[in-house]
Amino acid sequence: MTDWSKAGLYARAWVVSDMTGVGTGVTDRGLTSRKVGRLSGTAQVPGDKSISHRALMIAGITVGKTTITGLLEGDDVLATASALRAMGAKVEQLGGGVWRISGVGVGGLGEPAEPLDLGNAGTATRLLMGLVATHDFTSFFTGDASLSSRPMARVIKPLEAMGARIVARSGGRLPLAVIGTATPLPITYTLPVASAQVKSAILLAGLNTPGETTVIEPVLTRDHTELMLTHFGAEMRIEELAEGGRKITVIGHPELVPADIVVPADPSSAAFPMVAALIAPEGDIILSGVGTNPLRTGLIQTLIEMGAAITLENPRIEGGESVADLRVRSSALRGITVPAERAPSMIDEYPVLAVAAACATGRTTMLGLGELRVKESDRLAAMATGLAACGVKLSVEGDTLIVEGEGRPPLGGAMIATELDHRIAMSFLVLGTVTAEPVMVDDGSPIDTSFPGFAALMNGLGCRIGA
Ligand code: S3P
Repeated sequence: MTDWSKAGLYARAWVVSDMTGVGTGVTDRGLTSRKVGRLSGTAQVPGDKSISHRALMIAGITVGKTTITGLLEGDDVLATASALRAMGAKVEQLGGGVWRISGVGVGGLGEPAEPLDLGNAGTATRLLMGLVATHDFTSFFTGDASLSSRPMARVIKPLEAMGARIVARSGGRLPLAVIGTATPLPITYTLPVASAQVKSAILLAGLNTPGETTVIEPVLTRDHTELMLTHFGAEMRIEELAEGGRKITVIGHPELVPADIVVPADPSSAAFPMVAALIAPEGDIILSGVGTNPLRTGLIQTLIEMGAAITLENPRIEGGESVADLRVRSSALRGITVPAERAPSMIDEYPVLAVAAACATGRTTMLGLGELRVKESDRLAAMATGLAACGVKLSVEGDTLIVEGEGRPPLGGAMIATELDHRIAMSFLVLGTVTAEPVMVDDGSPIDTSFPGFAALMNGLGCRIGA
């Protein structure tokens, strides 16, 4: 067991010397968040990242034109747009979050002349690997240091079983080449890890494969690919399994028909202003049009169990996805145990949940966080180090994070290493809205991968986040 409260002492000593400005390693992209008293107002966070990637990719293989409204214009999704253009789809940005895609039809993508640079985007990489695996051409995938350290073996294995060949760096890491197969084989694959990205890669590969491609997921993960394929007219069979989980089958060579899409606001981005309003001394905000797909709402459920005043107003269905306006008021939060089974429905929200836990009364135990170690950074380590540096008592035991809240905000005053991870940066900037001393992140630029305009939106609600 690592005692992170001791690590905090060392980290704080390092930070104090850093704050003299000597040898900080801080770039001019650093951001600081200062304490505020009151958060209020209405805001709409940008479009859902998962849905935006899928909307571009699936529209890109229909025959005809699809209009997408509310697309996330963050760096990750722009990387997907560039990759699709490089493979022959027409992808036009019309302005105001509206995009028009002219697809090439299932199996109609062409070999990209240059390597596909996916930047920081794990979802783009894994889903596109699936899409090209059953096309008869070779493509090369590259990305930044964070993406190049992430495990791709989880998609390589099933895609090779379908007939593709993939040559990767050691440990199945980028850069890698996907040598697509001209004669794909349908497979039935049981997911060894609960991963919507792996599920989606196989289903997308199954589109250009004869026969039935099936994924069995023992634990449910976000189902945006299934919903969207159905929306575009693909033939799918989805069975609930008696032992829990689902069996998802896509029938190969469907005729996908263009179908316009409205992308809901991303619940994973809404999580940041949501927690900021909850821990603020005075907070009452509305976040409009947020996606409330039940496979994404683990954080809301958890925060409500902790005592959060969150209400879902005007629930409605938009573009096949459920959305609502969320009213969030400041609340006295209590520590709870978050079960491991809930992790897939809130996997990206643990960093900001840990911030909420740090301000709650009592112990919050978060179980089953192994997957956090292979996100844009090792989020378990990044949160533990950063929170300890801000004066939070916590421990990491295997895949469990335990945060001891003292019913008041921690001291803050630390410089956080972002490690190319947008959610680490945003989580600590949320913490800085309540700590006595400002919280700084060394590099705020990764925030643009998922939440362009983050500081402006937060400041519009009353935060003080700036250079
Ligand atoms: C995503 C799935 C999750 C999530 C990621 C987006 C998706 O990853 O962490 O940010 O869009 O399918 P895993 O599939 O690795 O759990």
